[in-house]
Amino acid sequence: MLWVEGVTAGYGNGVVLRDLSFKAAKGQVTCIMGRNGAGKSTLMKAIMGLVPVQSGRILLSGTVLSDLPAHQVPGQGIAYVPQGRRLFGGLTVAENIEIGLLARKRGTRTRDFVLDLFPRLGNRLDQIASTLSGGEQQMLAIARALCIEPEVLLLDEPTEGLQPSMITAIRDTVLKLRETGLATVLVEQRVDAVLRMADRVAFMEQGQIKADVPVAQVQADSALFKQFVGV
Ligand SMILES: Nc1ncnc2c1ncn2[C@@H]1O[C@H](COP(=O)(O)OP(=O)(O)OP(=O)(O)O)[C@@H](O)[C@H]1O
Ligand SMILES: [Mg+2]
Repeated sequence: MLWVEGVTAGYGNGVVLRDLSFKAAKGQVTCIMGRNGAGKSTLMKAIMGLVPVQSGRILLSGTVLSDLPAHQVPGQGIAYVPQGRRLFGGLTVAENIEIGLLARKRGTRTRDFVLDLFPRLGNRLDQIASTLSGGEQQMLAIARALCIEPEVLLLDEPTEGLQPSMITAIRDTVLKLRETGLATVLVEQRVDAVLRMADRVAFMEQGQIKADVPVAQVQADSALFKQFVGV
């Protein structure tokens, strides 16, 4: 279980997250929705130690992540695919995966597991990452993140700008990973995608989680989407 307890965080003197509390459970997909600038990406960066936490704590099964330097956070079992994904563009698909495996010293079994999830990557192992299609790059970013065999996966708008077939492929993967017990935190703006994938939906506004409800509740009450996302 990932716990964010009363976290205040921001950039320099500016505060973005305000006494924010949030949790993500094993075997569940928790979607975070909110308007541009609400602080969704900042929350992910704070969890990863990339934005300093001014007060409050972030815990992963008893370990206080917010006490660790950023480079030690992934090793605790928490994988992060940033918005806009960041690959080693000049390296091949295979090399990007090798780098992912190094972080927690995983081997062939893990490599086979991530390539099974994304067969398109297996057919393109020697291709330079920057020449992959947008959807393939997103798959590689997720595959590389999964190479640490995480307990928690943070995905920041993974379907942004992708065509429907790629969105479906990524959605199917998220649902498959849920079966393995992974806790997934997904920032996602598309209502249809959220309704298909989420177990819980957390609505964020001005650096706070204003509502955190089971997906059935948002299916029944679309007013939440109107209030916090504007659709
Ligand atoms: N590196 C930075 N330095 C200063 N301020 C920043 C920085 N990154 C983000 N911010 C500010 O923090 C606030 C929240 O930004 P954040 O990227 O977390 O929003 P978001 O909810 O992810 O938005 P979007 O839906 O557009 O991705 C915004 O006001 C933004 O301008
Ligand atoms: Mg963002």
